[in-house]
Amino acid sequence: MDYLQLKGSQSLSGEIKISGAKNASLPLIAMTILAKNNVKISNLPHVADINTLLKLLSNLGATCERNNGYMHVDTSTLHETKATYDIVKTMRASILVLGPLLARFGKCEVSLPGGCAIGQRPVDLHLKALEQMGANIEIKSGYIEATAPNGLQGCDIIFDKITVTGTANIVMAASLANGITNITNAAREPEVVQLCEILNKSGVKIEGIGSAILTISGTNGKLIDIVDFSVIPDRIEAGTYLCAGAITNSKLTIINADPSHLGAVLAKLEEMGFSIESSLDSITIHPADEIKPVKIITQEYPAFPTDMQAQFMALATQANGVSIIEEKLFENRFMHVSELQRMGADISLNGHTATVSGKTKLSGTDVMATDLRASSALVLAGLIADGTTDIHRIYHLDRGYDSLDKKLQNVGVDIVRLSE
Ligand code: EPZ
Repeated sequence: MDYLQLKGSQSLSGEIKISGAKNASLPLIAMTILAKNNVKISNLPHVADINTLLKLLSNLGATCERNNGYMHVDTSTLHETKATYDIVKTMRASILVLGPLLARFGKCEVSLPGGCAIGQRPVDLHLKALEQMGANIEIKSGYIEATAPNGLQGCDIIFDKITVTGTANIVMAASLANGITNITNAAREPEVVQLCEILNKSGVKIEGIGSAILTISGTNGKLIDIVDFSVIPDRIEAGTYLCAGAITNSKLTIINADPSHLGAVLAKLEEMGFSIESSLDSITIHPADEIKPVKIITQEYPAFPTDMQAQFMALATQANGVSIIEEKLFENRFMHVSELQRMGADISLNGHTATVSGKTKLSGTDVMATDLRASSALVLAGLIADGTTDIHRIYHLDRGYDSLDKKLQNVGVDIVRLSE
């Protein structure tokens, strides 16, 4: 297995180019199941999760070909409707094929994704909404067996909790349904917005895009001609590299980023003493005279994203004072704490709240990645730790960060990828 070795006490300079958003790419690839045409996608990131979903579609009979920067996905040859455990267990967002497969074929089997390191992550809200649309859902031997022999019917759906992939699943199911579907308490993440925008441009009338109430007029079972599109920039990748600039107190520019997707994150960086310069597609962070402590509560977009919680925890170890970080979305998203503590961080946990006392000197050592964003927090800590930090199990990192070691090398970081 590979591991990353990085030397600490670095300062960065230059610029980092952000890749396409993993969490936009996944629903957009699942969306191709609704297409009658060969769909042309640009700016897909080169990360493991995208390859996993493309492999799943290929296993179902689709053809996915990457050439000169474009991905062409043709689902006209789809002949299977079973997403098997061997794939779904490696990438729980495979659940995103459930809505489109059911909408197109009237039946499908999708392995229950099961939990993951950060929490139990049920899909009950996805299933309940599909049942409201007329689907018959049974759970048999770890599989979701869904049928809708008369097609899916538009209806009024109110999500008990805001769910990002739940909203995406139902938007895609509703796109081919008979009649109109109203989704109340819909997720407003930019990734959901792009999915709605592409569907809308492809002939599915969607109103309320970007709001918590979506109205989707289904095509009554007719497949759609999906327009060519380019995936939006990855706001979490951008936020992670801004934290790299912040924790090393460097001037760093992020290009191909959309600052309008990072309002809450940029506000917290400014609260901590950093100054931020933004243009339409770039963000520059400037060093702080003194890094101030911060209070963070993770919530749904546009509030502070849970996917940036671990990164800010690493940053908070370098603030002068006590920071409070409350994780409101997932029940177990503090796996990075024990590894940061091993590097010398002064963090105490009380339920879903972490108290981080700084400024603490961190020391490089062997650490283990446990989940995607926790891994990036360990990289950030390694940038300023004394000595060398070896980060193991970086397959977690490869799921969501495109060429992280190369991007950091390009701004002066002494980081190499080695094999155990
Ligand atoms: C998406 O996960 C993202 N993944 C996650 O990013 C992100 O952390 C999360 O949204 C929250 O922003 C993708 O988009 C592929 P949810 P998702 O459904 O959709 C509960 C990363 O690091 N819930 O919005 O699975 C759930 O347990 C990943 O890139 C139910 O109870 O998250 C959680 O507490 C990690 N029942 C809350 O809702 C359901 O049926 C939000 O989950 C669905 C969700």
